[in-house]
Amino acid sequence: MSEFKVDALEAVEIWTINGEARRNSINRGMVQELENMLGRVSSSREVRAVVLTGAGDKALCAGADLKERAKMSQSEVRGFLATLRRLLRSFEASDCVFIAAINGLALGGGTEIALCCDLRIASSTAELGLTEVKLGIIPGGGGTQRLARLIGPARAKDLILTGRRVGAAEALNLGLVNRVVPLNAPLAVAAAKHAVDLGLDLSLDAGLALEHQQYEIVLKSEDRLEGLQAFLEKRAPRYQGR
Ligand code: COA
Repeated sequence: MSEFKVDALEAVEIWTINGEARRNSINRGMVQELENMLGRVSSSREVRAVVLTGAGDKALCAGADLKERAKMSQSEVRGFLATLRRLLRSFEASDCVFIAAINGLALGGGTEIALCCDLRIASSTAELGLTEVKLGIIPGGGGTQRLARLIGPARAKDLILTGRRVGAAEALNLGLVNRVVPLNAPLAVAAAKHAVDLGLDLSLDAGLALEHQQYEIVLKSEDRLEGLQAFLEKRAPRYQGR
């Protein structure tokens, strides 16, 4: 199975890490594939921007694949990190604009990947952290250097020495992310998108019928009930895409 799902939208590509069950953590196959993909877009004049995100709604990337790491020898870890460092540097050298769409957790290497991107857009449920000291290591993919440059050494030390995770609001306040966007109900977003796109080719009456059809999908959804319940309980909704 490929480590990434690639969607192309004219000059923009969306690269989705295809490892939801392991919270999109970084394994050897993924690093290899990412290096090939970076080579491809860097020599292409057509791809101008890449959005990097993770499958599912839990994580962009939970850092190194710790199950794989546990089986690596010291020299294998060294080799893996050398490739990762080179890879992350080539994000910065590329003419392409890289945007990290942080759709959940970005821990350890997940935050380091985001730090190599030109822009970081977080969902309101995002959490970032350089949590390596909790595992007896330090950030090995440039995190100590890039975070200190981005938010200043004092704030970077606060995050790196404690290994604490910060939510989207604090990350925005620190300048660690550029923008926070709400994650709306996925079925509703898809239905609204199809209603607009498909409706444009139809007469107004046919377009209104299409809107009605799309409304039926959300009307039957659990997310619709969750949206109402969350409003009544004065809390943020937790949409499941059902
Ligand atoms: N490497 C490998 N597998 C990972 C992983 C990682 N970094 N992070 C999560 N997973 C796996 C879990 O082992 C679990 O697999 P399983 O179903 O086979 O047991 C699955 O992803 C779901 O994780 P779980 O812990 O059950 O989900 P959660 O949503 O409650 O918690 C995390 C998610 C990411 C907070 C938690 O798994 C975690 O702390 N992971 C380690 C993150 C880390 O320290 N990263 C820095 C590495 S330097």
